[in-house]
Amino acid sequence: MAERLQKIIAQAGIASRRAAEGLILAGRVSVDGVTITELGGKYDSGSQRICVDGKPLTLSETKVYFLLNKPKGYLSTARDERGRRTVLDLLPEVRERVYPLGRLDNNTEGLLLISNDGTLMNGLLHPRYKVNKTYVARVTPAPSEKALDKLRQGIKLEDGLTAPAEVHLLETGAAEAKVEITIHEGRNRQVRRMFAAIGADVRALKRVKFAGLTLTGVKRGKYRPLTAAEVKELYQIAGIGQS
Ligand code: URA
Repeated sequence: MAERLQKIIAQAGIASRRAAEGLILAGRVSVDGVTITELGGKYDSGSQRICVDGKPLTLSETKVYFLLNKPKGYLSTARDERGRRTVLDLLPEVRERVYPLGRLDNNTEGLLLISNDGTLMNGLLHPRYKVNKTYVARVTPAPSEKALDKLRQGIKLEDGLTAPAEVHLLETGAAEAKVEITIHEGRNRQVRRMFAAIGADVRALKRVKFAGLTLTGVKRGKYRPLTAAEVKELYQIAGIGQS
């Protein structure tokens, strides 16, 4: 089946689709010995020899899936040019070419999926499937229910109106409050910006749930493999049949 080159590279677990586009534009990808530097073409990984940096893609790498409890101070990227710590430093035993499914800010902690399954990643991150993500935010000053209602209704950010969020005030004190918020969009720094829009500053942010998965039994900085049933469920959520 002919597919876009960036999709094939992402499915091979080498890079995200966006990063794969960069590899193509940089002239690092060849098909049947010919360097490809344009993004539009479709190719067949079954019958054509696709290489990145001269190395043929191995499309049969076993798919692996991990649930990580990310601590603060780790970047959600596979590699950092400046040598900063990335979430992959927390999975030193994993030999496959894995990468994070989505992002948490450097100073956000909590649930992050790590895998080499590009198909699942693209499905889970696609806005169409509205995958729920739940966060607990410690914010100051403590917002009123009226202010939280604005988040429940959808609030205007510089990149447009947010979809309605599910919001529960968990604890409230004189100076700060703990708020649980569930969203399904994945805009950059979205939760922090939503609270900023109601005049509250996020002091700590933790993702406690993603696509129905929780951090139960996984300590900060640790990870566990997903079960086959969990992977199957994710495939259903992402609207794709499992190969
Ligand atoms: N929203 C944020 O503001 N930061 C994250 O890391 C995740 C969601």
